[in-house]
Amino acid sequence: MTQTSARDTTRTSAMPLVHAVNVHKSFSGNEVLNGIDMDVAAGEVVCLLGPSGSGKTTFLRCINQLETIQRGRIWIDGELAGYEEKGGKLHRLADKSIAAQRREIGMVFQRFNLFPHMTALENIMEAPVQVGGVRKSDAEKRARELLGRVGLGERCDAYPAQLSGGQQQRVAIARALAMDPKLMLFDEPTSALDPELVGDVLSVMRELAEGGMTMIVVTHEMGFAREVADRVVFMDSGVVVEQGAPAEVINNPQHERTKSFLSRIREENEEYAAALVERAEAEKL
Ligand SMILES: Nc1ncnc2c1ncn2[C@@H]1O[C@H](COP(=O)(O)OP(=O)(O)O)[C@@H](O)[C@H]1O
Ligand SMILES: [Mg+2]
Repeated sequence: MTQTSARDTTRTSAMPLVHAVNVHKSFSGNEVLNGIDMDVAAGEVVCLLGPSGSGKTTFLRCINQLETIQRGRIWIDGELAGYEEKGGKLHRLADKSIAAQRREIGMVFQRFNLFPHMTALENIMEAPVQVGGVRKSDAEKRARELLGRVGLGERCDAYPAQLSGGQQQRVAIARALAMDPKLMLFDEPTSALDPELVGDVLSVMRELAEGGMTMIVVTHEMGFAREVADRVVFMDSGVVVEQGAPAEVINNPQHERTKSFLSRIREENEEYAAALVERAEAEKL
């Protein structure tokens, strides 16, 4: 493996941007990831599907080094995440080096986690100024650009409580982009939103994908997966069960577990749509 520093912009390695091999993670003896292998090429969009508890969040957290792993390895852009190899042995990197690696990855959670006492603009400027050493005026200019890009150019001075959930989530995406990540991880970014707010968040994500961002997206939004993903990966019980082109996996799943998951999601969506119609009608009365 070629040694590259976290700051290198040119990749000297032929590896995919994310190269995860045999990743094992357990919590007090309870094995949650059971040997995950996953490659994501630069510019690729992968949607990660799977039932609740299958380990999707844990896997994203391992990629972003919010969790340590017990076995296996993860390389990000050719660089071993969290460790360096010396004389055939792995040594944990210093916190500072891990923080530098983590800065290259943007993560957007189900709950937006914005700082409530800061405006949209201040939320986005915070990391570049405090962590990235960017001049305040430069960070502000960039933050305004990013807010424009997510359709919130007019709401720079709004506090999170003054924004809808969908707007807050778009601020959270802009905030993650402010550190110029190589990779964006999304963990069910629309599942806490009212349905009428989901579309705007998905549009921002679609544009990001079209702009060439490498993305791993955990989602139950099958329409998004079908239209935007290059590949869909279905996980269950801490293993990858099946993967392939979205149309193949979603329309023609090969494994029983994938089939039953997809039909459950379809039923839930139908029930949900029916409940919305009911609600809309009740509101009319
Ligand atoms: N910090 C933790 N401590 C103990 N168990 C955890 C922790 N995080 C996740 N788990 C367990 O790991 C399993 C997978 O969780 P998670 O990765 O959140 O699944 P998913 O995102 O697919 O719903 C679940 O059984 C969950 O209870
Ligand atoms: Mg989860």
